[in-house]
Amino acid sequence: MPRVTVIGTGYLGLTHAVYMAELGHEVLAIDIDEEKIAKVSRGEAPFFEPGLESLLRENTDSGRLRFTRSFAEIGRFGDVHFLCVGTPEGAAGRADLSSVYAATTALAPYLTSPCLVVGKSTVPVGTARQVVNRIRAIAPAGSQVDLAWNPEFLREGFAVQDNRAPDRIVLGVMSDWAEARLRQVYEIPLAAGTPLLVMDLETAELVKLAANAFLATKVSFINAMAEICEAAGADVLPLAEALGYDARIGRRFLSPGLGYGGGCLPKDVRAFRATAADLGVKWMASLLATVDAINLRQRDKVVLLAREATDGSLVGKRVTVLGLAFKPYSDDVRDSPSIAVCDRLVAEGAIVSVHDPAAMSNAARIRPCLAYAPTISEAAEAADLILHLTDWSDYRTIDPFALGAMVTRRVIIDARCCLDTRLWASAGWSVHVPGRPSTVESDDEYDRAGSTTGAVVPAG
Ligand SMILES: NC(=O)c1ccc[n+]([C@@H]2O[C@H](COP(=O)([O-])OP(=O)(O)OC[C@H]3O[C@@H](n4cnc5c(N)ncnc54)[C@H](O)[C@@H]3O)[C@@H](O)[C@H]2O)c1
Repeated sequence: MPRVTVIGTGYLGLTHAVYMAELGHEVLAIDIDEEKIAKVSRGEAPFFEPGLESLLRENTDSGRLRFTRSFAEIGRFGDVHFLCVGTPEGAAGRADLSSVYAATTALAPYLTSPCLVVGKSTVPVGTARQVVNRIRAIAPAGSQVDLAWNPEFLREGFAVQDNRAPDRIVLGVMSDWAEARLRQVYEIPLAAGTPLLVMDLETAELVKLAANAFLATKVSFINAMAEICEAAGADVLPLAEALGYDARIGRRFLSPGLGYGGGCLPKDVRAFRATAADLGVKWMASLLATVDAINLRQRDKVVLLAREATDGSLVGKRVTVLGLAFKPYSDDVRDSPSIAVCDRLVAEGAIVSVHDPAAMSNAARIRPCLAYAPTISEAAEAADLILHLTDWSDYRTIDPFALGAMVTRRVIIDARCCLDTRLWASAGWSVHVPGRPSTVESDDEYDRAGSTTGAVVPAG
């Protein structure tokens, strides 16, 4: 069995390292972040990912998964080195590849015998060839260092299950040897029937960018449809549902609302746009520019709605924001649409109180000025307006009758289009949902006035 190393223990790298150990491999992982390595070595996940911490502990306790800060140790230990460092947005929307090159430059001097370096980070097409040339120029093993690209498709919040049951495994390879090694690494999921697609390096790099660009396009398409619905007096929710039943279209990524965010889709769309322009494919570049512009527009639209819902001015208005993470079941606030909305609310003079079940400490690090409330009730106290910005199940189960007793005005904007609007309306709330008729009226069937439990989040 090849011995595996993982370089970079962020969202991607740590979940991959744990998964590799779960598959039975001996794994050694490295990060330049000293604090992170200290934490993961103690079996503590440095971020919120359902199910990850217990698996991390199991595998560190068994000794199958260890951590280090020494590239020399990594080089000596590994037969297969997975590269999982960040590729954030750089100048002019291009991917910043400095961590990719720093990590491979740090590793290469210790590659003294035949081995395989496997890129998992999301990179512009052409990066893999540059990486292998640089490594071979430095490594004592020279051309005996092979390279493959194995893009990752996991979703934050579902990383453990996505690792265990991936839709497919994509391998970009330069040799049969690399393919054979990776077949060994992924023997268990392949035996379980996971589709394997083997291709050249460039195509593998592009598969990941194409997947994210397509998903982002789907989100922006439904958000543009929401705007059409508003203009035409139609309702985007039944429209999206009817579209989604078409097997050629599918229901996922067809939820209208505040748009996508996080550490992947926004920066990958921009980086791919830059690549498309560099390659002279201007139609793809302009399609992706539009996708990005529609996505950013959703944030402005929510602020516009908020202004309208507070009689034209947010100055001095108490606004409660429910949800800070870019998506539920994650504490990731990178390029979070909710944080962007908070910034605009503050800039317009609102007094903003925020709540999130998992992302408050990450948000507080980058936005210390916001008022962080430990409970939904405290966040909503005396609010003039509630904004529902991240689709946590905790918010779907709020009792609007109980919450109504805490606020000054019963006005809510459901920017994730997933609350039971008729229930909220029956509790006397004015409910605004982008892409839907402006205020949802009360309905007798839902009229539960007087039946409130007094609890904002019903027990169970
Ligand atoms: N987060 C996801 O869900 C996801 C999914 C698929 C693909 N990806 C891609 O995976 C890559 C990593 O993303 P992430 O979300 O894990 O980022 P991250 O910022 O959470 O993690 C990156 C890690 O790399 C470490 N690092 C940076 N330079 C290093 C170096 N020279 N040596 C060792 N470690 C170094 C950082 O300290 C950090 O811990 C990106 O290319 C991203 O696009 C991410």
